[in-house]
Amino acid sequence: MTEKRSSFTGKIGFVLAAAGSAVGLGNIWRFPYLAAKYGGGIFLLVYLILAVTFGFALMCAEIAIGRKTGQSAINAFKSLDKRFGFVGVIAAIIPAIILPYYSVIGGWVTKYFYAFVSGDAAASASDSYFTGFIAKPFEPIGWFLIFMGLTALIVLFGVEKGIEKVSKVMMPVLVVLTLFIAGYSMTIDGALEGVKYYLLPDFSRFSATTVLAAMGQLFYSMSLAMGIMITYGSYMKKDVVLEKSVRQIEIFDTGIAFLAGMMIIPAVFAFSGGDETALGKGPSLMFITLPKVFNSMPAGAVIGAIFFLLVLFAALTSSISLMETVVSIVRDKLGWNRRVTCIVVFAFCVILGIPSSLGFGIWDFVSVAGLSILDMFDFVSNSVLMPIVALLTCIFVGYIIKPQALIEEIEIGAPFKAKTLFTVVIKYVAPVCIVLILISSILDVLGIMKI
Ligand code: PHE
Repeated sequence: MTEKRSSFTGKIGFVLAAAGSAVGLGNIWRFPYLAAKYGGGIFLLVYLILAVTFGFALMCAEIAIGRKTGQSAINAFKSLDKRFGFVGVIAAIIPAIILPYYSVIGGWVTKYFYAFVSGDAAASASDSYFTGFIAKPFEPIGWFLIFMGLTALIVLFGVEKGIEKVSKVMMPVLVVLTLFIAGYSMTIDGALEGVKYYLLPDFSRFSATTVLAAMGQLFYSMSLAMGIMITYGSYMKKDVVLEKSVRQIEIFDTGIAFLAGMMIIPAVFAFSGGDETALGKGPSLMFITLPKVFNSMPAGAVIGAIFFLLVLFAALTSSISLMETVVSIVRDKLGWNRRVTCIVVFAFCVILGIPSSLGFGIWDFVSVAGLSILDMFDFVSNSVLMPIVALLTCIFVGYIIKPQALIEEIEIGAPFKAKTLFTVVIKYVAPVCIVLILISSILDVLGIMKI
């Protein structure tokens, strides 16, 4: 490519764009349901520990690889060492797996926004509303197509900048609103049990599966282990202090996830009367619980509508970054123009997304180990491919190019305070943990032993 790569303007530009990619459904929809399912406090604790160690080190590494090489994922690995080009290729497959099912959930959010503005707020608080909706064959697909189409149009016309500007205003509002809803949730009768469940770790619930789930969530939420941060790093100017930017993105991303859990988990307890099975609702948790919260609060219909609109924006900035990545990889490899590529990627996503959507309705008989079709895509990307890419990235940085090569890049502009942590995590802690976790989860899935 002879085209010059553009840079993010201003110091804050990079952080905002990366945070736009990071903060999305992963924080608001995925984190709370995983925390609810995997033991609450213990999941939160494991997640936080992983975020300040793995998450921090891996994000520094990816952004530094991108900035050092000025290339997107596939070429970045190749240009540093020919033998490792394949890591970039695996990384590149991940966004293509995530985007279709991400857009199915994006469609659900769009539907709920519509339900709240069209006067269906009270109805949506009933138990059967969500299950009735996702069981329908066509309606969820329609909303999925609307969300996917919106994403594709934005990418096609290259108007991400406009969206980023809007979301710059929307994100802080989302934080404030989430804080408010979380505060309200805690005051509902019976919610206190949920606050305890969410904040106090129960060590007897600790298992390899908890760690794997937390790790997959960490990569997903911070847009790591799939080449995206490498690409973003390639646009980052040399005068931006890398370590500080990473900290800011991390705090923002983790903060929103934490608040989302606070908003949803206590409410689950309040509305289910302590029935623990309500915690295992999986992907549907947010859509079942939040309408009940809104229904119980004054002006809930208006607050709910605003909330779903903000979540829709957060989801769009993430789906745009997913689609942009897929589009730019296809264009780099095949040399197609932007329009053709967007249409082909859109068609591909529709084909992969429809089964995910039908998996909760007429195709709900398709299930492996209790996972729906959507969950399976989610599992393959988050619990299999991402840990593998993360492991290979650590080996690559730790033993092939050596941490020092990236430390030099990170130190441009300011000393790297967490240098030792970075080196130890990348070289020893992360690879060993990822291997152990992968092995134990494979054994677990095969039913050989339960750890
Ligand atoms: N990080 C985004 C979220 O939390 C999801 C995402 C993953 C976006 C990968 C881009 C790339 O919702």
